[in-house]
Amino acid sequence: MISGLTLDSYDEGERNAMSDAMDIMARAFDPAYGEAWTLPQLAGVMTMPGTWLTIARIDAAPLGFALVRSVLDECELLLLAVSPLWRGRGVGETLLVESLKIARRRGITSMNLEVRASNTAIRLYEKIGFEYVHRRPGYYRGNDGQLHDALSFRIDMLR
Ligand SMILES: CC(C)(COP(=O)(O)OP(=O)(O)OC[C@H]1O[C@@H](n2cnc3c(N)ncnc32)[C@H](O)[C@@H]1OP(=O)(O)O)[C@@H](O)C(=O)NCCC(=O)NCCS
Repeated sequence: MISGLTLDSYDEGERNAMSDAMDIMARAFDPAYGEAWTLPQLAGVMTMPGTWLTIARIDAAPLGFALVRSVLDECELLLLAVSPLWRGRGVGETLLVESLKIARRRGITSMNLEVRASNTAIRLYEKIGFEYVHRRPGYYRGNDGQLHDALSFRIDMLR
């Protein structure tokens, strides 16, 4: 883990935390795929019970975030993003591991996620122990109208 990295989690739509996440959102997602969320989308999800946002910072500057929504004993990783300048240094992995720890503390037994089939994030998910579940052909539409398959993954935390 990068020295000085801090992780803070927020259950409600705390304005500063959402603003930090939006700051990363604007830089982390390739505009070609249209995967970045808008502030109203983020704020809407943050009002739902069982949702939490974890922000990684150094010296108060945000580097990455993870957004998770839970229902009963299952949860879904909705977004994971690290600022391009900070990639490849373990920030994404640290955020994902922290999200899993928080989920376990809340009695959640599995985490699911859906990801574009060409996204290199899949390497991270597999490294952590997520297992492939199924493929949805043409599930995402990029900003250029091109369709992309989605893969879903799951990790069972009881194992
Ligand atoms: C996916 C993402 C969060 C990874 O963040 P990161 O901080 O660079 O990842 P880490 O440095 O923690 O990588 C941990 C492991 O993941 C894998 N990994 C991460 N990025 C990878 C890449 N581009 N290519 C290959 N493997 C990769 C590696 O196994 C790596 O472990 P290693 O360094 O021991 O080999 C980041 O690339 C990102 O923000 N992407 C854009 C947003 C996005 O598409 N998010 C996922 C869908 S919501």
